Amino acid sequence: MTENTRPDGIIIALDGPAGSGKSSTAKAVAERLGYRHLDSGAFYRAITYAALQAGIDPDRWETLSGDELDRLDVHGVPGERGYVMTVGGRDVSAEIRMPRVNEHVSRMAAVPTVREWLMDALRESGARGGLVADGRDIGTVVFPEAELKAYLIADAEERARRRLMEQGEADLSEQHVRVEAARLQGRDELDSNRAAAPLRQAEDAVVIDTTHLTLEQQVQRIVELARERGGVDPGGEVA
Ligand code: DC
Repeated sequence: MTENTRPDGIIIALDGPAGSGKSSTAKAVAERLGYRHLDSGAFYRAITYAALQAGIDPDRWETLSGDELDRLDVHGVPGERGYVMTVGGRDVSAEIRMPRVNEHVSRMAAVPTVREWLMDALRESGARGGLVADGRDIGTVVFPEAELKAYLIADAEERARRRLMEQGEADLSEQHVRVEAARLQGRDELDSNRAAAPLRQAEDAVVIDTTHLTLEQQVQRIVELARERGGVDPGGEVA
């Protein structure tokens, strides 16, 4: 893959389990490099939210057709630095983080027709390069040709602590962290054991254990790797 085929820069794929710091890292790396950020989980969340709002029974999600998915009217609207998720033209950025969506999203993400339906939109976002995409199957399925793939991991309890802090939770007691860690591990299991595009590390991914890293250190590490792989910003300057 030569740089010329990607006028806006390289593609960086960040995968890993829930709470490993992918999304915040991806967003910050994109800012640093002047790239766009694709949070692929947000697309699965928006479909889940739309289906729940439409009153479609989760037991029927496996049978959703492409036409039905079209009718849910879910879009990722490209912005300056990322994508805004809309349902029926309404910005649902806050709604897709609700506990109700957290509880159901792994089930939706396991449906092969849903994953296929989304694939064109996800791939389209990388057409010009200059993209930092995070998810579970970015380096393995969505952009197997990405110039840089990183697989982020962290201890389950550290991931749970981060998730709780992100949600503004005041109670960070050991007991509460343990309950949240079990919940995250339950989701990881669903995401890893499903038949369609399960969570797994690409063979050519760089593994980064973020348990003892600050966000800034994670970002630095990936920006350095991006530089090594030709990740120059569109203006020609390395971030
Ligand atoms: O990263 P997240 O918590 O926003 O992801 C939400 C769900 O979507 C999670 O169950 C995993 C799934 N997902 C996926 O299957 N493939 C992706 N590329 C991104 C997310």
